Amino acid sequence: MMRKIKCIGILTSGGDAPGMNAAIRAVTRAAIANGFTVKGIYRGYEGLIHNEIKEFTTESVSNIIGRGGTILKTARSKDFMTEEGRKKAYENMVAAEIDALVIIGGNGSLTGARLFAAEYDVPCIGLPGTIDNDLNGTDMTIGYDTSLNTIMECVDKIRDTANSHERIFFVEVMGRDAGFLAQNSAIAAGAEAAIIPEDSTAVDQLAQFIGRGIRKSKSSSIVIVSESPKCGAMYYAERVRNEYPEYDVRVSILGHLQRGGSPSAGDRILASRLGVGAINALLEGQRNVMLGIKNDEVVYVPFSSAVKSDKPLKKELITALEVLSL
Ligand code: F6P
Repeated sequence: MMRKIKCIGILTSGGDAPGMNAAIRAVTRAAIANGFTVKGIYRGYEGLIHNEIKEFTTESVSNIIGRGGTILKTARSKDFMTEEGRKKAYENMVAAEIDALVIIGGNGSLTGARLFAAEYDVPCIGLPGTIDNDLNGTDMTIGYDTSLNTIMECVDKIRDTANSHERIFFVEVMGRDAGFLAQNSAIAAGAEAAIIPEDSTAVDQLAQFIGRGIRKSKSSSIVIVSESPKCGAMYYAERVRNEYPEYDVRVSILGHLQRGGSPSAGDRILASRLGVGAINALLEGQRNVMLGIKNDEVVYVPFSSAVKSDKPLKKELITALEVLSL
């Protein structure tokens, strides 16, 4: 029989993403409005293991909707990936009288939630919080829209130098193994190409790009490159220096500035809807699902489907960029 839920624990885990605070606020306020008590767990799963737990009131989440990062702090917990770590987390949770968990995070964090929920009788609800947009079953993740806008603004600025000096710029963006940030920021910033993992075929993407005749109608080029340990922006720039020495080439690796800053309206609204949805899900008796947004409706996605690493990137986006960058 399911235990009655009285107290909900909330944590953020993995890489921070703009909009996490808006989600924390929404979960907290919706929970309190429905008669639950709320406990904030600090530093993700690490805080459960090390007992960093504090009761939240509606005031605890005042004036945070516009702030980037996460007031709860975050971590990538290695200990939670061990059975021992999860046991300790469970014991602390029980001692703190927390009956259900809301976890805001990306792939690794929801994989952790899935393991935990399979081992212990704890209702877990996940919210997709990652700039990578790589969780299945949701059109968007919290943080993705803000990050896209940040990248677009940076690339607009880089374009000034690229144009003035007639250079090729390779701009490296985050996304882990997914190319959503690279592909869509390339479209938004009018870049000439994107090199993304989803499009890596036997064809050499650099040769293809140069072969399209980059200097026919333009004097500068910007190529957005998805981060990769071996084939990032540095790799392509070095190849251009060696194979096409006639071009003046530069690299810009945007790094963690892509994760910071005040969340966009889109991310604040998404986080608020999903935060309220998380409490509705618990009231409906849902457990072990991630909430997503599909065709403007809040949907429930089993953890097992959400964390599969095969979220499709529409071919149409690749074609659109090719046509638009001619
Ligand atoms: O998952 C979010 C993300 O920003 C990825 O895009 C990136 O690969 C990774 O986190 C970087 O993580 P860290 O901040 O731990 O270096």
